[in-house]
Amino acid sequence: MRFLYRYLYKFSVIAGFAGGRAVLVSVLALAMHLSAGAPARAQGSAGPYVPTPTVIVDELLKLADIKRGEFVIDLGSGDGRIVITAAKRYGATGYGVDIEESLVDLARQNARKEGVAERVNFIAGDLFNSDLSKADVVTVYLLPSTVIRLVPKLLKELRPGARVVSHDYPLDPWVPEKVLNFNFEEKVMISGTTRTVLYRYIVPPRAAGR
Ligand SMILES: C[S@@+](CC[C@H](N)C(=O)[O-])C[C@H]1O[C@@H](n2cnc3c(N)ncnc32)[C@H](O)[C@@H]1O
Repeated sequence: MRFLYRYLYKFSVIAGFAGGRAVLVSVLALAMHLSAGAPARAQGSAGPYVPTPTVIVDELLKLADIKRGEFVIDLGSGDGRIVITAAKRYGATGYGVDIEESLVDLARQNARKEGVAERVNFIAGDLFNSDLSKADVVTVYLLPSTVIRLVPKLLKELRPGARVVSHDYPLDPWVPEKVLNFNFEEKVMISGTTRTVLYRYIVPPRAAGR
């Protein structure tokens, strides 16, 4: 399946350069569809590589309300843009985890280029095995079924008051504390519509005995 994503992603980039917007959208939609139909595995793809457009990274980080020195984790970190921007702009530390080693290498290179390699780390591995205990903020842009499967882990491992921001897909049945709706032209190439939704969640205080 991973080879298929790589192939589909390369093909979609070529189609995009060639101006084949409809082809691109349908190829990415196919990749998402194939991922959604794949059986749930501990070590498996939680979504194809589709980078968040930078204008949306900006809004997502504003919504996360990051304070200097806070620890940010991006689950499925791609080229590292979310953690790197959080470090550069907000003085955050943190890490990204991605199942694709080539993307982890790219994210490390990008962190060096942006001068934040001392403060951020990129790890190759399955996001379902990552340690969330240090996080003040977790960000996700993953398949709808994956973000739902993540909810028990987030609620169990994150400290009360930690924030989770999800790009486009709600973490049902967890009720978001804030939802922002946008229209971005940059999303048309990804999902065939300008519609973008950002969901913010706050980990509640632990009930006695939990
Ligand atoms: C939609 S992209 C988001 C990339 C980045 N977070 C962003 O917003 O620009 C999803 C990423 O999750 C990664 N991924 C998929 N399944 C994973 C898994 N089980 N563990 C870790 N990363 C995974 C993919 O390789 C891909 O880079």
